[in-house]
Amino acid sequence: MILSVALATAWAWLHGQTVAEKKNEEKSVVFPKPSLPADNTPSRERSALGERLFHDTILSIDGTVSCAACHVPEFAFGDDVDRSRGFEGRLGKRNSPPLFNLAWKPHFFWDGRATTVREQVLEPIQNHLEMAANLRRVLSDLNRNKSYRRDFEKAYGPGPITSKTLALALENYLLTIVSTDSKYDRFQAGKATLTPLEKRGHQLFFTRHQEGGAGCFQCHGGPHFTDYQFRNNGLAPDDDLRDEGRFRATGQEVDKWRFATPSLRNIALTSPYMHDGRYQKLADAVAHYQGPLHQSATLDPQLKGDGLKLSDEDLSALVAFLETLTDPRFVEEQ
Ligand code: HEC
Ligand code: HEC
Repeated sequence: MILSVALATAWAWLHGQTVAEKKNEEKSVVFPKPSLPADNTPSRERSALGERLFHDTILSIDGTVSCAACHVPEFAFGDDVDRSRGFEGRLGKRNSPPLFNLAWKPHFFWDGRATTVREQVLEPIQNHLEMAANLRRVLSDLNRNKSYRRDFEKAYGPGPITSKTLALALENYLLTIVSTDSKYDRFQAGKATLTPLEKRGHQLFFTRHQEGGAGCFQCHGGPHFTDYQFRNNGLAPDDDLRDEGRFRATGQEVDKWRFATPSLRNIALTSPYMHDGRYQKLADAVAHYQGPLHQSATLDPQLKGDGLKLSDEDLSALVAFLETLTDPRFVEEQ
């Protein structure tokens, strides 16, 4: 199970890295220490409880939808549809993001409207498109369930289950989903080699456009392959959805059509792509940057111009490189 490996990793982060990790540190991708909440330290009881809740339809009004319905473990906790369907099959507006390495994420949702996991997790339960349940009813169902009462007591001490302990349990579990073991990480640690095509993709990814590369690292850089900023990458707005992204959270003109830069770790597992899932294939998502990009006042300055105009072979090289960012645990250990 992912949980045991991830929990061990989370513990290692919390209590200092293991000797083996320290030895490899020079060569490996270096992850900064995550800021784990001091009042919700990971423990087996808490994470196991969160995991149980995550998979339980008790959190939805008609008992049909669980968190895992849209955040499927084998798709790196994303899903495989363009926009997720929730309660009574209602179609949401956005693509369900994968869930891993949340301990390092400074904000959540495509528009960054939540800044902590615990703030975020209760929203889908109340949101009529996702789970449509009344939180008070969910809490009363949980409190009437002897086995949940027992598990919550073990995790958070005696007393009734509240929205706070529910949010903490889900948060505890989500923070233990850690993904740091892709082929690329192994390559960086000297434990794997890249094929010539993957190497070419690596070079394009990490070289500026002005210097003959594709400049991807300028936004998708760092150990998590994201700068954790909000940017407009030149997608033409969808006329029906009119999703103005970050603007919806801040109301500021400069944020119109900007979205959180997604991590590209495990990207091969999380089709379809972009906030509205408009591209089915990874190659099509990469080809988006060939242009023409949608011109608007907030288009990111780094993407101004005619687009990349890479050869077909270079496009395949970028895709091959992105495929090295898959952590096999998500596929193998289910
Ligand atoms: C019907 C599908 C659906 C269900 C059910 C669902 N989610 Fe989500 N989840 C989404 C979508 C879509 C988004 C992005 C929404 C947005 O950006 O506005 C999201 C976003 C998130 C995020 C933010 C991730 C990030 O990196 O920004 C977290 C965390 C999350 N969900 C956890 C949960 C939990 C916990 C549950 C169960 C209580 C749950 N989700 C139930 C579809 C779903
Ligand atoms: C100016 C910043 C910027 C640059 C440069 C950039 N991206 Fe992106 N990328 C983004 C943003 C922002 C999104 C999310 C856009 C959205 O959904 O509205 C994104 C989305 C993606 C996605 C879809 C991710 C998902 O989870 O759906 C892929 C794949 C991707 N970019 C690959 C690349 C590649 C390859 C390059 C280099 C050719 C690149 N990006 C260059 C900002 C950038």
